[in-house]
Amino acid sequence: MDLGDPGLYLDIDRYAFWDEQIADGRVVWSDPGSSPNGFWSVFSYDAVRQVLAPNGPFSSEYGMMIGFDTTRPDRSGGQMLVVTDGTHHERLRKLAGTLLSRRTATALTDFVEQEVRDLLVKSRETAETDVTVDLGPHIPASVVCEIMGVPPADRDHLLTLTNHAFGGSDDSFSKMTPAEAHTEILLYFDSLIETRKRRPGDDLVSVFLADPELSDTDVLMNCDNVLIGGNETTRHAVTATFNALSSTPGALDALRADPALNPLMVEEIIRWSSPAMHVLRVATDDVVINDQPIRRNEPVVAWLPAANRDYREFADPHVFRPDRRPNKHLALGHGPHHCLGAALARMELSALLRVLADEVRSVEVTDGPIWQRSVLVQGYRRLAVGFEWQ
Ligand code: HEM
Repeated sequence: MDLGDPGLYLDIDRYAFWDEQIADGRVVWSDPGSSPNGFWSVFSYDAVRQVLAPNGPFSSEYGMMIGFDTTRPDRSGGQMLVVTDGTHHERLRKLAGTLLSRRTATALTDFVEQEVRDLLVKSRETAETDVTVDLGPHIPASVVCEIMGVPPADRDHLLTLTNHAFGGSDDSFSKMTPAEAHTEILLYFDSLIETRKRRPGDDLVSVFLADPELSDTDVLMNCDNVLIGGNETTRHAVTATFNALSSTPGALDALRADPALNPLMVEEIIRWSSPAMHVLRVATDDVVINDQPIRRNEPVVAWLPAANRDYREFADPHVFRPDRRPNKHLALGHGPHHCLGAALARMELSALLRVLADEVRSVEVTDGPIWQRSVLVQGYRRLAVGFEWQ
């Protein structure tokens, strides 16, 4: 089986398949297909942690997605944060971390809560809302625009482009292909870089530009990293929230009764939805995982949603438990590349839950979910819900 084939996950029950691999502690080889030379797959919590751990014999520089390896390395390797190792990675991480911080998250909380309230106003006018279109993509896109310093006059344009690039394959996003929209976004950031060179601001583009060691291409690539990292994953966690609330009647009541549940629920949403479906590493030395020898230069894929439902680590792993504790999931990664936007992602979900607890009595899924065809991200293409308002 080619585990890199996105169609596979529409045909099988992915979680039942991963459960089988975890029970046997399997490390599975996929022959060349979706990846030029094939790759190993690991599924269990411990094996995924081993691959992502600090100082392990693994590199991100050849690429961190299926399709890349030593013979077909990612062109951004060594330049873009997520596909860079060592001291240059630390340098880029420190730079981007100045704005992708807990402080920024706190400062943006009111802004995000207002965004969510404005989006829900539209839902009040209809019986059914497809949250993959009308809610999921908007919240993270607004946050990324704020961080990047996109001027208010350009925001609608960029939001439209972002929805086309990352908004799934819904018919309402039919003006251009995702690839065309992504190119338009890069062109937009190219011109924003020129503007910020003349007039620096307190945004991430200006932070990157202030580093004399980064070329314009480096700045553009790292803006793109934040753009994709911030949009592509978080929107699926936002939409999964509605499925979780629908399948767990009483969760919103519990949250109203005890607001201290909010951070636990945020963590459970991230674990249960696990929007980053895999990350890839290339072995830099011979290594053994679960008795399986892996040779130097061989790619290894860590399936994060599988690890986050490993029964050895999580009781009732498939159940959404609003008060799950401990909850040491790996959905935001582990080790040196642990998600730099984690505080922002948590803040977005926390604000969403606060507003929902305030305005919504209950949520019911009316159609879907339909999985998106992807091995990169795990999320829905369609999830229609009805609201009972407070
Ligand atoms: C890295 C997941 C939200 C920016 C990562 C990684 C994962 C991840 C698994 C590690 C990749 C690897 O090990 O190769 C998620 C999930 C999110 C989320 C599930 C939402 C629920 C965000 C947000 C931002 C962001 C909101 C920024 C606005 C980044 C960046 C990196 C990263 C810049 C690279 C860090 C590094 O390489 O040092 N994310 N992410 N992410 N994420 Fe996130």
